[in-house]
Amino acid sequence: MSTQVILPRLMQVGAEAAAQLPEVLASLGCNRPLIITDPMMVKLGYVDQIRQLLEQQQFPVEVFADTVPEPTVSSIQAGVERVRQGEFDCLVALGGGSPIDSAKAIGILGCHGGEMRDYRFPRQVNEAGLPLIAIPTTAGTGSEATRFTIITDDDTDEKMLCVGLGFMPVAALVDFTLTLSLPARTTADTGIDALTHAIEAYVSRKASPYSDQQALAAMRLIGPNLRRVYRDGSDREAREAMMLGSTLAGIAFSNASVALVHGMSRPIGAAFHVPHGLSNAMLLPTVTEFSIPAAETRYADCARAIGVAEVEDGTAAANDKLLAELKSLNKDLEVPTPAAFGIERDAFFDIMATMAEQALQSGSPGNNPRVPTAEEIVSLYRALW
Ligand SMILES: [Fe+2]
Repeated sequence: MSTQVILPRLMQVGAEAAAQLPEVLASLGCNRPLIITDPMMVKLGYVDQIRQLLEQQQFPVEVFADTVPEPTVSSIQAGVERVRQGEFDCLVALGGGSPIDSAKAIGILGCHGGEMRDYRFPRQVNEAGLPLIAIPTTAGTGSEATRFTIITDDDTDEKMLCVGLGFMPVAALVDFTLTLSLPARTTADTGIDALTHAIEAYVSRKASPYSDQQALAAMRLIGPNLRRVYRDGSDREAREAMMLGSTLAGIAFSNASVALVHGMSRPIGAAFHVPHGLSNAMLLPTVTEFSIPAAETRYADCARAIGVAEVEDGTAAANDKLLAELKSLNKDLEVPTPAAFGIERDAFFDIMATMAEQALQSGSPGNNPRVPTAEEIVSLYRALW
């Protein structure tokens, strides 16, 4: 049996990779970029740096800087209009997962029309949108190397997962120096997201020998460096490892999918506006404990790759160490419980059944080594309290 692997056509990886943008655009034959970003990137001066780089090489530069965290259909509408009315031949997404996810949706809707809802899973969106060059500034969502985007429906609060070749960036400039000024909280939340991608890709029912290698490499990079970047954001060596790990984890889960943690995390994020990485972190120890019996040796491999178990440790011992590590990681990275985050217990319990249905509908729990029933998902939600 063979597996299809989908990747960006070009990746520029390492310190100052973002400065290669003019050369990358030229090599792709792109002349009229629209930069898709957010107000924070403007404020930090990153957009001006990119603008200068491009203008020095005579590229006309236009910017859409109104993307929002956890993008919604209405938040991308103005960007879609810009693409429809302008004569852009590519998009450059600069920022965390949200500007990149927004740009993916804008590129497809701007070229092919229709409503975002029309493009959601299980439809495979394989038509090409505007070529997208992604420059991530977090390590991270891995969105620069995935064929997914997630856009929230304003009316229903549903986080719509959209999948296909059309959402894979044509190029990714993976530059860890852009993460050096990232605040500790965002560093932790996005870092745990990347770790979750690697673990879930490795235990996924859709894992392949190719995705396994990407996932293991990602865990080896992220495991020893997540606490380091949280404690000292200026640690270049650790930042570089996290950035590469995040992209490799993105490649792993783009090709193997994520599983139950992400399936359960999206409804929490949508209903209670918890940042994506944080809701993953809240769920990761509990869901891992639930899933281990169905994939003991796989989770033991994760413990060894992260660096908390030795080769000599047996499977059971390695799994115990993995669970202990995930719990202590949440403590060290100061991940709040749902209650400490400010979620009302009654409000959470009232919609647990709905969240379980939404989780199942996303398809992600079906990739989990232990596939849960709706009732089991509800008890996992309850176990967070
Ligand atoms: Fe994620």
